[in-house]
Formats: sequence, C-alpha cells, structure tokens
Amino acid sequence: MAKVIAVMNEKGGVGKSATATTLAYLLAKRGHKTALIDFDGQGHASIIYGVKNTNKLEVTINTLLRKIIEDEPLPEPDSYILKTECGVDVIPSNSQLFTLERNLCNVDFRERMLSRYVDTIKDSYQYIIIDCMPQMGTPMINVMMCADSIIVPTQAELLSTQGLTELLKHYQTIRKNSNHRLRIDGILITMDSPNTILSAQVHKLLEQGFAGKVPIFKTHIPRSIKVAEAVLYHKTICEFLPDNPAAIAYERFADEFLAIERTEETEVCAVG
Ligand SMILES: Nc1ncnc2c1ncn2[C@@H]1O[C@H](COP(=O)(O)OP(=O)(O)OP(=O)(O)O)[C@@H](O)[C@H]1O
Ligand SMILES: [Mg+2]
Repeated sequence: MAKVIAVMNEKGGVGKSATATTLAYLLAKRGHKTALIDFDGQGHASIIYGVKNTNKLEVTINTLLRKIIEDEPLPEPDSYILKTECGVDVIPSNSQLFTLERNLCNVDFRERMLSRYVDTIKDSYQYIIIDCMPQMGTPMINVMMCADSIIVPTQAELLSTQGLTELLKHYQTIRKNSNHRLRIDGILITMDSPNTILSAQVHKLLEQGFAGKVPIFKTHIPRSIKVAEAVLYHKTICEFLPDNPAAIAYERFADEFLAIERTEETEVCAVG
C-alpha cells in the first residue's frame, strides 16, 4: 500500500510544486513506484510533467472527485493516468478544481472524498505525492484525512513562515480527532540564499518557533533561477540540470526523506 505524502502550505509561491514534482521524480528514479496527484487548480504539477493545455484534459482529479460525489463508477486508471518517461504517474488537474470547495458543500462525509479516490489507486504505488493548492478549506482537510505525512515547504523569508502556525493547528485537530496516523515529516526551507543575514535569521526564527514541535529538514533548497527555467522545458530541476546546486540539494532532501521512512519502518517492525 502506498504512503501518501502531501506537500502543503497555505501560503502561495513557497515551492510546493517544485518540491512535490522533484520529490516524485527522485523517488521514481530511485526505483519506487510513484504517483503524483496535482491537487491545485493552477495545474502547475501537470504542466511541469508535460501537459501543454490543462483545460483540454478530459479526466482530472476534479472530474474523478465529481464521480465519487455522484456515486458514479470511475474510469480505468490506465485511461486517464499520464505515464511519464521518467516513471512518475500523474493524475492531472486544471482550473475546474477551483469549483471543488463549492461542490463539496452539501455532501455527506465531504472531507473523505479524496481518501475514497486515493484508496482506488493505493495498491498500485509505493508513494503517492500530493501537490496541494495554496489555501486551507475543505479540499485541504480532504488531503489531511488521506495523507500519512506532510512536507511543509517554506521560503526563507519571514512572511512565508507566518502561515505555518495556522497549518499546524489544522494538523493537530485532524490528527487528534480523525487521522491518527498523520505526521509532519518536516519543514523544508526553499529558495534559500545561504550566507545572508536574512537566511540566518529566518532559520533561527524557525528553530525557536518550532523546535521540539515539528522537525525541520537539515537540507535547505537554495534559490536558483534554473528551477523556474526547467519548467519551460517541462522538467524538474533534477532532470533538467542534475549538477545545479538546487538539484543537488533536492537529492539530499530525498535522502533525508527516505531515511525518515526507513526509521519508521524499523519502528513499526520493532513494535510488531
Ligand atoms: N529553489 C528555487 N529557486 C528559484 N526559484 C524557485 C525555486 N523553487 C521554486 N521556484 C520558482 O518559484 C515559483 C514558485 O514556486 P512553486 O510553484 O513551486 O511554489 P508553490 O508553493 O507551488 O506556488 P503556488 O502556491 O502558487 O502553488 C515558481 O516560479 C518556481 O519555478
Ligand atoms: Mg504550486
């Protein structure tokens, strides 16, 4: 059964899509069967994985969720999952997903619709990565209900770190009341400018604010214009320029992520 990892922060532009798409790429490259759910109406993950016009897509995560809401049968996964050359299977999205919050309004168990979808593909993967939209609300509650863990990218700037407290509140409520297995893998500092006063101060603030509550990944992703340039070629930075400092940092971040996974497995075995 797949581990479901949500890349989440309600603040926009903090590196969620860059992190989700790159982590999915690296997991697939390292031999893990990996799916990536684009759970943002902006469709950025779909675009990075080669979809040129998201609004021409016939089946998206939104249409799949609509079918679940209406209790209609789902199409066969092979008919809509985009199989990419690098081995990542993508469940794409487009702007129709902006209607999801409204469509869930009067639905019973509305916070469980994404779980019901994810359950239909969970047996086929080791990892399912979810690239989240930049807002809280019912769609994000759906993500927290079906995820095993959350990675929280945050830009190394004061204003980007301020939304984290709100996210943590939602996390604690959901973990306590509904999804007891949910955990936070860590805060990932992105778009970092090492050796600047700003960077040092933001790191210190995060350490002070979250030490003992939420882990912070040791690896920081440096700012590099090449990360944005890679998108022009529908690639992640690790595929586009593997020697770029941001690509090297993402490889290290994937090592750290997998080390957490291994520790958990060992703990589960020890308990078992
Ligand atoms: N390490 C980096 N260095 C430089 N630019 C980056 C880096 N990571 C991401 N970017 C660029 O910054 C912008 C925002 O990144 P990204 O789209 O990953 O953020 P996001 O949190 O997913 O945004 P949104 O909330 O809009 O979905 C994009 O143009 C992306 O290419
Ligand atoms: Mg995004």
